[in-house]
Amino acid sequence: MGASVPESTAGGDERRRGRQLWEDHARWWQDHFTDGVDPEYEEQILPMVAAWVRPGDRICEVGCGEGQVARTLMAAGASSVVGVDPSRGQLAAAQRRAGGPQYLRGDAERLPLADGTVDGAVVCLVFEHLDVIEAAIGEINRVLAPGGRLLLMLNHPLLQTPGSGWVDDHLVDPPEQYWQIGEYLQPAEIVEEVAKGVHIRFVHRPLGTYLNALADAGLMLEHVEEPAPPPGFLAAAPGYASARHIPRLLALSLRRP
Ligand SMILES: C[S@@+](CC[C@H](N)C(=O)[O-])C[C@H]1O[C@@H](n2cnc3c(N)ncnc32)[C@H](O)[C@@H]1O
Repeated sequence: MGASVPESTAGGDERRRGRQLWEDHARWWQDHFTDGVDPEYEEQILPMVAAWVRPGDRICEVGCGEGQVARTLMAAGASSVVGVDPSRGQLAAAQRRAGGPQYLRGDAERLPLADGTVDGAVVCLVFEHLDVIEAAIGEINRVLAPGGRLLLMLNHPLLQTPGSGWVDDHLVDPPEQYWQIGEYLQPAEIVEEVAKGVHIRFVHRPLGTYLNALADAGLMLEHVEEPAPPPGFLAAAPGYASARHIPRLLALSLRRP
């Protein structure tokens, strides 16, 4: 086991359920999405993170999990990286896997960091699990130094709306194939069985909700990426090949003025 991790004073009933599911399934996440086994991380997310780093930056990763993004930030030249996550199971793995970052136990909605102390913040596949993104965005804005940058990565909220997916419609003649979009405009909380016996809580919100919350906080959008699924993902998920032009990821680069 790694060393114990300092705890922030974050709390709140509304967050308890989703947090507990992540705690229960920390090992599932580590086994299936980290340590080189997931092509989307290896071929897309981690290279994008490394390219975003400016040498010498002090960076906070919000919702760091077992630390694969935090380690990438260090390896790419950050001078310091602090990873924050509420899950003890994730943080214990992060400590074991080492690689240079420091870790603090805490929530996105109440970051255990002082005002204006980081040059960059990274949030990777975390906002989809939060009830109140405005609180997290406010905290990120608070800890960023003036001119500081935010890299926000999401499961694409438009094209990966719950209920979205490839449809082979054989009821029409000739058969049609298309990507169905679920109930995009409907904000929704879903506990999804992502693997047998593994339940994770997702909060869907339209893209405009994310963009308006970021704009309301005064963060300026500088760049958007909607990458096609990488080759290793398509090779491992042949059923997705017909939808290879549908992005799974949305990456937003923003700056605090
Ligand atoms: C999909 S994992 C992503 C982990 C890491 N960012 C990565 O990309 O490898 C989501 C992470 O969000 C964390 N999380 C859940 N609720 C959170 C909250 N309120 N504040 C910060 N992190 C949270 C979970 O514990 C989990 O580690």
